[in-house]
Amino acid sequence: MVRSIFTLAAAFGLALAQSNYPNQSAPFNLVLSSENSTLDGLQLGACHSGAAVESLCVFANITTPQFLTFYFNGSAEAPTNPGYLPAGLLTWTFTGGIPEFTQNTAMTFMYNTASNLAFPLIWPSDANSQAISFTDDGLLAVAANINDTLDPPEPFDNYVTYITDRWAICKTYWQAYDYTALQFVLGDQKPQNPSCEYVKVKRVFL
Ligand SMILES: *[C@@H]1O[C@H](CO)[C@@H](O)[C@H](O)[C@H]1NC(C)=O
Ligand SMILES: *[C@@H]1O[C@H](CO)[C@@H](O)[C@H](O)[C@H]1NC(C)=O
Ligand SMILES: *[C@@H]1O[C@H](CO)[C@@H](O)[C@H](O)[C@H]1NC(C)=O
Ligand SMILES: *[C@@H]1O[C@H](CO)[C@@H](O)[C@H](O)[C@H]1NC(C)=O
Ligand SMILES: *[C@@H]1O[C@H](CO)[C@@H](O)[C@H](O)[C@H]1NC(C)=O
Repeated sequence: MVRSIFTLAAAFGLALAQSNYPNQSAPFNLVLSSENSTLDGLQLGACHSGAAVESLCVFANITTPQFLTFYFNGSAEAPTNPGYLPAGLLTWTFTGGIPEFTQNTAMTFMYNTASNLAFPLIWPSDANSQAISFTDDGLLAVAANINDTLDPPEPFDNYVTYITDRWAICKTYWQAYDYTALQFVLGDQKPQNPSCEYVKVKRVFL
């Protein structure tokens, strides 16, 4: 186990050496807004979901500031197309392992082929990271290019739309960890996980 963590550190230390997203923002918290008053105003916190893997949890009683502090790692160049927002990664600083190491890690979407929900996990490699943006209102957004609800499918106006309203808080299960955590609903449909409550996610700089 000790050895596998060490090897993991070496492997992803290397993988992240040449980041495509080197411009790190100031630190911020991720705050929920929801019509559900139980969820409105809660913060997302990084919660352990495997070796250097974290879910974005609520109700996990996270009070240590490190676990509530996230960054936006943008690309070195600003977008040239008008109407496009800077693209980047949602990142979090992992500290742990034996021997201890510190590594900036990035959100990726993991897919359960039996579900219509993507699972955002902070993952110790940026190889398959999910690009995200923040709207002018500070809302966490995922860019999409093609609207396939049209027949035939067509690009969105200006070839992009920013989806901010398909985040949900749901009861989750990932590798034996049960949490209440952030999910992303795939497509224009009801989340099939019956516990899901829609939210928006806003960055609030510290
Ligand atoms: C984010 O940017 C910082 C500062 O340039 C860099 O050290 C880090 O590796 C980047 N993180 C990722 C996941 O690319
Ligand atoms: C609000 O969200 C909580 C937590 O997900 C849930 O237990 C509760 O049933 C929801 N309330 C309503 C009115 O939907
Ligand atoms: C949260 O953690 C604090 C400190 O460990 C503890 O005192 C408190 O009872 C916990 N609250 C809940 C709701 O679990
Ligand atoms: C990224 O950082 C570099 C160096 O500080 C700066 O020149 C560049 O304008 C930044 N790019 C964006 C898109 O903010
Ligand atoms: C896709 O196109 C349909 C039909 O015009 C429209 O109702 C829907 O809002 C579009 N989807 C998005 C995400 O804009």
